[in-house]
Amino acid sequence: MAPTITSRVDTRSDEFSANQTAMLAALADLDALYAQLVAGGGQPGDKATATVARHRARGKLLPRERISLLLDRGSPFLELSPLGGWGGQDSLGGGLVTGIGVVSGVECVIFANDPTVKGGSQSPTSVHKGLRAMDIARTNRLPLITLTESGGADLPKQADVFNAGGASFRNLTRLSAAGVPTITCVFGSSTAGGAYIPGMSDYVIMQQGAAKVFLGGPPLVKMAIDEDANEEDLGGAEMHARVSGLADYLAVDEADAIRQARDVVAHLNWRKLGPGPTHASRAPKYDPADLLGLVSMDIRVPFEAREVLARLLDASEFEEFKPLYGSTLVTGWGSLHGYPIGVLANNGILFSEEAEKGAQFIQLCNRNDIPILFCQNITGFMVGTRYERGGIIKDGAKLINAVSNSTVPHITLMMGASYGAGNYGMSGRAYEPRFIFSWPNHRIAVMGPKQLAGVLTIVAKSRAEKSGIEWDDAAFAPMRDAFEQQVESESTALFATGRLWDDGIIDPRHTRDALGIALSAIHSAPVEGTSNFGVFRM
Ligand code: COA
Repeated sequence: MAPTITSRVDTRSDEFSANQTAMLAALADLDALYAQLVAGGGQPGDKATATVARHRARGKLLPRERISLLLDRGSPFLELSPLGGWGGQDSLGGGLVTGIGVVSGVECVIFANDPTVKGGSQSPTSVHKGLRAMDIARTNRLPLITLTESGGADLPKQADVFNAGGASFRNLTRLSAAGVPTITCVFGSSTAGGAYIPGMSDYVIMQQGAAKVFLGGPPLVKMAIDEDANEEDLGGAEMHARVSGLADYLAVDEADAIRQARDVVAHLNWRKLGPGPTHASRAPKYDPADLLGLVSMDIRVPFEAREVLARLLDASEFEEFKPLYGSTLVTGWGSLHGYPIGVLANNGILFSEEAEKGAQFIQLCNRNDIPILFCQNITGFMVGTRYERGGIIKDGAKLINAVSNSTVPHITLMMGASYGAGNYGMSGRAYEPRFIFSWPNHRIAVMGPKQLAGVLTIVAKSRAEKSGIEWDDAAFAPMRDAFEQQVESESTALFATGRLWDDGIIDPRHTRDALGIALSAIHSAPVEGTSNFGVFRM
C-alpha cells in the first residue's frame, strides 16, 4: 500500500474561507452562463423565449433533453466545452452540445445540435467544437452518436466554416474506417453539406414527418432545374426509408428515434480494449470540497500541489518518486477511481532538475503503460545567466521531448497558472492530451500580463534610445497599462474555454469525477506506452 498524503491545510483559517467565497462567486458566474445555454434560444430575451416556445409547440425537445433520454438512467454526462465561443462573435456554446455519456452500457461521444440557436446552423465555434468531439471519439475509440437538426453552415459566416465543416464529414468516415461506430438520428433539417452527416454515418435513424435531408431544398431545386418539389418527396424520412435507402430505421417520434439509437448501440457488441480499473475506487481521505478553499483566485498566491492530490487520488495514497530531487515538480503514482495514474504536478517554477526528473518519470509511465495526469500551475522555466549556462534549454527540451513522444494517454488539469514553455512541458493543448479541464482561477498566456507589459516597455525604450529619442516613461505608462489590461483579459479561464483551449471549466469539487469519467473513456482504447523517444540532448 502506498503512503497516504497528510494534509497540513487549516480549513478554518480566514485565508481558506476567503478563497472559498471567491471561488464560489466565480462558479456562480459560470452557472449563470450555463443556465442561459440550457434555456436555449441563443441570447437571452423575448426572442429566445419565443424561439424556444415555437420549438416546443412543434412537439420538439431541446438538445440536453434529447441527450438525457438517450443516456442510461441515472448515468452521468460529461459535457465538453459548454462555454465555447464565450467572448467571440458566435453564439455561446456554438448551438451545439457535445459530451461523453453512457448509452446501453457503452461510453459514447454525443453530439447534438441546438435548433433553437440560429436554426442549429454551424458557426466557426460549432464546427471546431464538433471536430474536437470527433477527435475525442477517434483517440479514445468511443462510438459517436449525432442528434441532428441543423440549418447547415451559418451562411453569413460561410467563409469561416466551409473548409473545417468539410473536415467533419471526412472525420465521420474515418471514424468508421477505424472501426468506431457512427450513429445519426435526424430530427429535422439536415440540408446541403449537412446531408453528409447521415450520408457518412454507419447507422441512420430518421424521424417521420420531421427529418428533412436533401442536397438542395425546394427553392434551390426550383432555381436550379425549375422543378416544383415538396420537402417530403425531396428528402422526408419516409422517402429515405422506403426509396433512397439513406435511412436505415424510421422512427415515429423523437423518443422512438432515441430508443432505436439505444438499440443500435446495444447490438454493437462493444468491448473496451483497455484494461478495466485495477483497484477498487476508494474516496480520498480528505474532502474534495476543500479544493474550493485551497486555491486563491489570485494566481500569484502559491499552493501546495500535494494538498490537491490528497483530494483527488484514491484514499489520498501517493507513492512519490524522487521526493528529495527537483522539489518544484511533484511526481509519483496513485490511482483515481481505481485506474492507475502517474502524476506530474507543479509546485513552483521549473529548473533543470525538475525537467530531467519529469522526463525520466514520463519514460517510466510509458514502460508500465500507465496514463499520466499533468496538474499545471506553472509560471515557466527558470531564466537568467546561471540557468542558461546550466543548460535549462536542453533540459527543458528533454521534458518536451518526453511529453511529445509519450504514447500513454495524458490528461491535463489546469489548476492555476499556465505560462510560456511550462505549458508545453506540462502537456498543454498543443501536446494533444486526451482531455484538458480547467478550474475557474486558471490563467494562461505566453507570460504573466505584468511581465509581458514590462518586456514591451523595455523593447520600446531601447528602440527610442537607438533612434536618439528621449524616453518619457510617464507618456508610455498608459500604453503599458492598456497592454497589461489586454493581456490580463486574454489570460482568463473564460477566454481560454471560449477559444476551446480546454474541454471545459469544471467545479474543483467535481474534478475527481470528471477525471474518472475521462479515464474510463480513455480505457475504451488500448493503453500502450513506448520506449521510442527523440534523442535526449545531454
Ligand atoms: N445560417 C444562418 N442562420 C440561419 C441558418 C443558416 N444556415 N438557417 C437558419 N438560420 C436562422 C434564421 O435566419 C433564423 O434567424 P432569426 O431568428 O434571427 O430570424 C433562425 O435561424 C431560425 O430560422 P427559421 O427559418 O425561422 O426556423 P425554422 O425552424 O422554421 O427553420 C431551417 C429552420 C434550418 C429549416 C431553415 O431556417 C432553413 O431551411 N435554413 C436554411 C438551410 C440551408 O439551406 N442551409 C444551407 C447550408 S449549406
